[in-house]
Amino acid sequence: MTQEILIRRPDDWHLHLRDGAMLQGILPETARHFARAIIMPNLVPPVVTGEQAAAYRDRILAALPKGMTFTPLMTLYLTEGTDPADVAAAAESGLVKAVKLYPAGATTNSHSGVRDLDKVMPVLEKMAEIGLPLCTHGEVTTAEVDIFDREAVFIDTVLDPLRCRLPELRVVMEHITTEEGATYAAEGGPNLGATITTHHLIINRNHILVGGIKPHYYCLPVAKREKHRLALRRAATSGKSCYFLGTDSAPHVDALKEHACGCAGCFTATNTMALLAHVFEEDSALDKLEAFASLNGPAFYGLPVNDEKIRLVKHELAQTFPEKIITEAGPVTVFNPGYPVHWAVEA
Ligand code: NCD
Ligand code: ZN
Repeated sequence: MTQEILIRRPDDWHLHLRDGAMLQGILPETARHFARAIIMPNLVPPVVTGEQAAAYRDRILAALPKGMTFTPLMTLYLTEGTDPADVAAAAESGLVKAVKLYPAGATTNSHSGVRDLDKVMPVLEKMAEIGLPLCTHGEVTTAEVDIFDREAVFIDTVLDPLRCRLPELRVVMEHITTEEGATYAAEGGPNLGATITTHHLIINRNHILVGGIKPHYYCLPVAKREKHRLALRRAATSGKSCYFLGTDSAPHVDALKEHACGCAGCFTATNTMALLAHVFEEDSALDKLEAFASLNGPAFYGLPVNDEKIRLVKHELAQTFPEKIITEAGPVTVFNPGYPVHWAVEA
């Protein structure tokens, strides 16, 4: 029996679009389903100033195929040299919707990130004053801290002290991967939100490591134990306003994923909505999918929800998705959940 649901067109509150040939190749994968996305600034070199963000936005719009509508919501990459006045001007003009904190060394292209939070307090104070959200890559980078503990330690040693110091600062805990992250977000009040990726609702660390290493399941923050995946499922499907979709779809060409030192990132733009329908149906929560993908994010960012709708249809036959997106930069493998998916987005 076919089943279908209609939801408001979704947005992606954490997305990597890259630049050049990669941007050209993968942008349609997002724009096909999503109206808007918060665009991560970790290019090489990073998007630090308002001027750089405006130029990047123009490159994204130029890469958008005719007939597609998509609005990139730009972010600035926080460095210890960021000028509070430049951030405020970029926010006031409507160009920039958030600032991204990467602890130096935490993930792909994060070496220009922040080593000492004291150095960026004037920027954070300005953001608190004007209501501009800080998106955090919430992992400590200390060598002594185990990679599976880095998110929980970040919450205790960085995020919570920062929020006590500056309670008015609006913060998005990006791509939470732990029960601790989900709990902290739920208890944080209206100034705190959390994005959850599609893949962290599907894989745990066994999927990466059992039966041979699976580079296309490796991302940062790395997937944790099963109990954490289940906590994320409960959070995403709860409908609670603090949780919203940020796919963290992060393309790398296969040659760099299937490598002795493989890049972190799962590419989920192509099949995210179908996978989410599968996940939410499995948890008897299809009625909460719209809140997670289309309503809670705009509410946190103070933006209107989208007027258009998308239709998700469950077919009797398993649906096929492209195994790879072929770009001029090279092939990019699409996230494979490892089970048949019967849902598809229909025009
Ligand atoms: C992202 C990337 O490739 O830019 N990788 C990832 O594993 N998520 C960076 C990030 O968001 O951490
Ligand atoms: Zn990311």
